[in-house]
Amino acid sequence: MSNRKTILITGGAGYIGVHCIVSLVKAGYKPIVVDNLYNATSDALKAVEAIIGEQVQFYNLDVLDKEALAKVFQENEIFAVVHMAALKAVGESCAMPLKYYHVNVSGTIILMEVMREANVKNLVMSSSATVYGTPQYLPIDEKHPVGGCTNPYGKTKLFMEEIMQDVYASDKEWNIIVLRYFNPIGSHESGTIGEDPKGIPNNLAPYISQVAVGLREQLSVFGDDYDTPDGTGVRDYIHVMDLAEGHSCAVKKITEKPGLKIYNLGTGQGYSVLQLLKAFEKATEKNIPYKVCPRRAGDIAAGYADPKLAEEEMGWKAEKGIDDMCTDMWRWQSKNPNGYSS
Ligand code: UFG
Repeated sequence: MSNRKTILITGGAGYIGVHCIVSLVKAGYKPIVVDNLYNATSDALKAVEAIIGEQVQFYNLDVLDKEALAKVFQENEIFAVVHMAALKAVGESCAMPLKYYHVNVSGTIILMEVMREANVKNLVMSSSATVYGTPQYLPIDEKHPVGGCTNPYGKTKLFMEEIMQDVYASDKEWNIIVLRYFNPIGSHESGTIGEDPKGIPNNLAPYISQVAVGLREQLSVFGDDYDTPDGTGVRDYIHVMDLAEGHSCAVKKITEKPGLKIYNLGTGQGYSVLQLLKAFEKATEKNIPYKVCPRRAGDIAAGYADPKLAEEEMGWKAEKGIDDMCTDMWRWQSKNPNGYSS
């Protein structure tokens, strides 16, 4: 066990972070976590420790705190960093752009400065399909043009990627893998870790879950007049454990010294809002009420990935289908109706 490579996960107490911990441990790595618990809780780390059967070293600090972050690198022999610490609410980013640029962009700059000073130049970054803007063709491969993001959150992800490209161009010792997530949903099969949004969920899956468990009255379907088979928005939902495996594959890939690589993490399959709702009704055996509302500003009609490159180059492929996603999501939500504070 002692010769395991140490992987630092910034934002590792969050929804995707704790699932990555499970996957990284299974793949033979030792994860350590930096998180300021802004949108996460230490209960999530306790829950994941119960799954993996070991303690996770945790630093409650902000990536903007350069000195504290540097100390983490002094205290540990870190092989690679998985950088997830960021703000991610699209609507909030429109109201508070400076906060988003500060945390997401400055946070990345500070992290990379600290990494360079510690001579740790292996990095896996959480990016988003939002960098593609409005799709020009489907499925979206990594060659699809980027830009045209309609909100500051999306722009921060694009800027983070561009900063990494420039750093890599200046110093080829870096190995950087950018992972463009499509729509992660679901939870670990134990139902003991999962998505626990604060306040009213912005995203579809947690909102549906909260309706099913009785926390909210009905789902608002944002538009049924899109150019899609049933008129509602189509997305590439991906099981969060598949997404987590993508990070372990990326860390493994880093050992090949790949330079800078960009991979989509999606299934390649699109589902509409109503299709996801129906799949969730099947998994829960509940009727989930909804009403059709106007379109949400900034939404695209349809987006789904061409995930072939990640399979060809990292040997990664999503394995779980929509029914697994809904069943696992419901196990978490029904066991923990109020999230980690249940
Ligand atoms: N939707 C509803 N009702 C809701 C919430 C969502 O009908 O209450 C619809 C949306 O209109 C969209 C679909 O469900 O058609 C998915 O919406 P989400 O908010 O779950 O996901 P998005 O695809 O809009 O956003 C996600 C991430 C963002 C990221 C974006 C693009 O949450 O961080 O994908 O990659 F930027």
